[in-house]
Amino acid sequence: MVRIGILGCGRIGQVHARTLNFLDTAQVTAVADAFDAPAQALAAKTGAQVMNADELIASDQVDAVVIGTPTTLHYDQIHACARAGKAIFCEKPVDLSSDRIRDCIRIVEETGVPFMTAFNRRFDPSFAAMQNRITKGQIGNVELVTILSRDPSPPPISYIETSGGLFRDMMIHDLDMARFLLGEDPVSLHAVGSSLVDPQIGQAGDVDTAAVTLTTASGKICQISNSRRATYGYDQRIEVHGAKGMLRAENQLEDSVEIATENGITRAPTQNFFLERYEAAYRHEMTHFVEALNNGTPPHPGIRDGLKAQLMADAAAQSCATGQPQMLNL
Ligand SMILES: NC(=O)c1ccc[n+]([C@@H]2O[C@H](COP(=O)([O-])OP(=O)(O)OC[C@H]3O[C@@H](n4cnc5c(N)ncnc54)[C@H](O)[C@@H]3O)[C@@H](O)[C@H]2O)c1
Repeated sequence: MVRIGILGCGRIGQVHARTLNFLDTAQVTAVADAFDAPAQALAAKTGAQVMNADELIASDQVDAVVIGTPTTLHYDQIHACARAGKAIFCEKPVDLSSDRIRDCIRIVEETGVPFMTAFNRRFDPSFAAMQNRITKGQIGNVELVTILSRDPSPPPISYIETSGGLFRDMMIHDLDMARFLLGEDPVSLHAVGSSLVDPQIGQAGDVDTAAVTLTTASGKICQISNSRRATYGYDQRIEVHGAKGMLRAENQLEDSVEIATENGITRAPTQNFFLERYEAAYRHEMTHFVEALNNGTPPHPGIRDGLKAQLMADAAAQSCATGQPQMLNL
């Protein structure tokens, strides 16, 4: 039985608490938030004790900490958890600065605490099945990966201003997915970006429309397309082309009913946004974390995967700003 403390009782903290409530191999024993109301609400749902963050990290009732606080707080909380010997499940991104992630790697490796970076999409049943089929050789050597990832509508400008930008905030998931499916680290990257959705996003120094091309040492190519807008809903598709075939994961729709009339053929809209679309992925990633701790095996993806995705996002931002391709040394 893993005893878990949840730091941050907001959107993602609540998602992880729901999974943990269903697992009989884990128990949420403590929750902490900067505000009393979300902490009390989550305590009522989990039966956990409300503590402040320092008490939770020091508590002998807590074996592992789920860090679901705003990204700027992860660095200090990772350091405190590692020093207290707690296993860590940290939301993405680990931090917005690669140097600060390297500091986190140092403390995590020095203390030897298990660490999982929450790249939940690796646990999406369709994307996990794609990777499994690739590993089994079902499409031969991977040659081209195409990742399409578009949000239904942009977040408020206040969010954009502190998000770290599209590459570090949004594309980071796709950059990790590229490594997951290519099975090889990219060695070069070229990014382009525009502000086509909302001029305020451009005025805030960010882009809302972007494309990245990655290449690996053996010549595999991955293309990622991102937009902060898709009029037809949350658009999450992947295609992997290999020497012996092709794998394709389509959008998940609200239901599977198709209607055909004299006006044409219509299907339901895509599932609204990430909380719905990746519900199963969130469940599987937390289940994996708990299983790894119970079995004494390292959870994955680890903190170095968090750093690699961040380095790719940094390179994409640089390439987009300068128009120059960037070499990657992951
Ligand atoms: N993997 C994913 O798909 C995914 C999705 C959403 C968010 N996230 C990540 O999760 C993190 C949290 O995002 P969110 O959307 O849940 O934000 P949120 O604002 O909904 O929740 C954060 C919570 O942390 C609390 N908090 C602030 N300071 C605190 C402190 N010092 N100690 C304890 N609690 C504190 C806030 O009061 C809030 O309740 C971010 O790093 C974000 O990037 C990841």
